[in-house]
Amino acid sequence: MEKIILDCDPGHDDAAAIMLAAKSPKIELLGITVVAGNQTLEKTLRNALNVVQWLGVDVPVYGGCDRPLVREKVTAGDIHGKTGLDGPVFPPLVRVPEPEHAVNFIIRSLMASDGEITMVTTGPMTNLAMALRLEPQIAEKIKRIVLMGGACTNGNVTPAAEFNIFADAEAAHICFTCGRPVTMIGLDVTRMVKCTPEVVERMKNVGNRASALFVDMMGHFCKTQKALFGWDGAPLHDPVTIASLIDPALVTVKPMNVRIELRSEQSYGRTNCDYFGYCQLPSTADVAVDINVQRFWDIFEEGLRNYS
Ligand code: RIB
Ligand code: CA
Repeated sequence: MEKIILDCDPGHDDAAAIMLAAKSPKIELLGITVVAGNQTLEKTLRNALNVVQWLGVDVPVYGGCDRPLVREKVTAGDIHGKTGLDGPVFPPLVRVPEPEHAVNFIIRSLMASDGEITMVTTGPMTNLAMALRLEPQIAEKIKRIVLMGGACTNGNVTPAAEFNIFADAEAAHICFTCGRPVTMIGLDVTRMVKCTPEVVERMKNVGNRASALFVDMMGHFCKTQKALFGWDGAPLHDPVTIASLIDPALVTVKPMNVRIELRSEQSYGRTNCDYFGYCQLPSTADVAVDINVQRFWDIFEEGLRNYS
């Protein structure tokens, strides 16, 4: 069983990652830490609480950083809507966040561990970066960092950069250079995981609370991306991190040197992936280069069936 902390910015696909992780027999979800990203922290935190309340999962939720380390804050309301999770209508919110700051929860959990916790990040990496700066000793306690972010090819916010890295490239740099194993689940594979109307219908037929929430979420998420990009299926980025822990054979990874662009005006936030080893530098991440898409949707459907 993989012990994880899921750091996220719900966000429709983050919510799908929570769904997949929270009831998986292969995942022990120690806590959900929330960061500003797709929307402001107030909204991403509220969304995380609404999701765990709706799903009825007893996982502690912690509020984290409300802005990036250095750059100005950016959000993605064009994709996720004004609330950050447009679409579902939730009952009155009763769940509250833990009083402890997410960064302190990450530090406390890792320092108390024997190195068995995997940090999964599906938003800007601000919380983990802050934890690494506040208590550098946690680095040796991190089993692995599995992030949704970056791309070998082109970005989705600028030609160069993917949103999670673009939103806090300095934080990503701190995490990628902390010395611990990194698995980068980037756009190269997550763009292949398209939530088409057929997928939505398949998940709707699961017929429980989780699938109902998924269908409501995808109603907005897919419609927005069809309107913006003409896509018949919205890429469901974040749950690929969780699915890759449930089935390590799901994605094919290639070790490469990856450096984060911090200084270029045009390419700020690019994950410069040395796919062919031109720079002859040591690899710094296992980068996902292929995925068994059919297997992903099977894992996701199984994940929804874990709920009553
Ligand atoms: O670029 C996609 C990533 O940015 C996903 O994690 C999405 O939720 C947004 O955070
Ligand atoms: Ca996200």
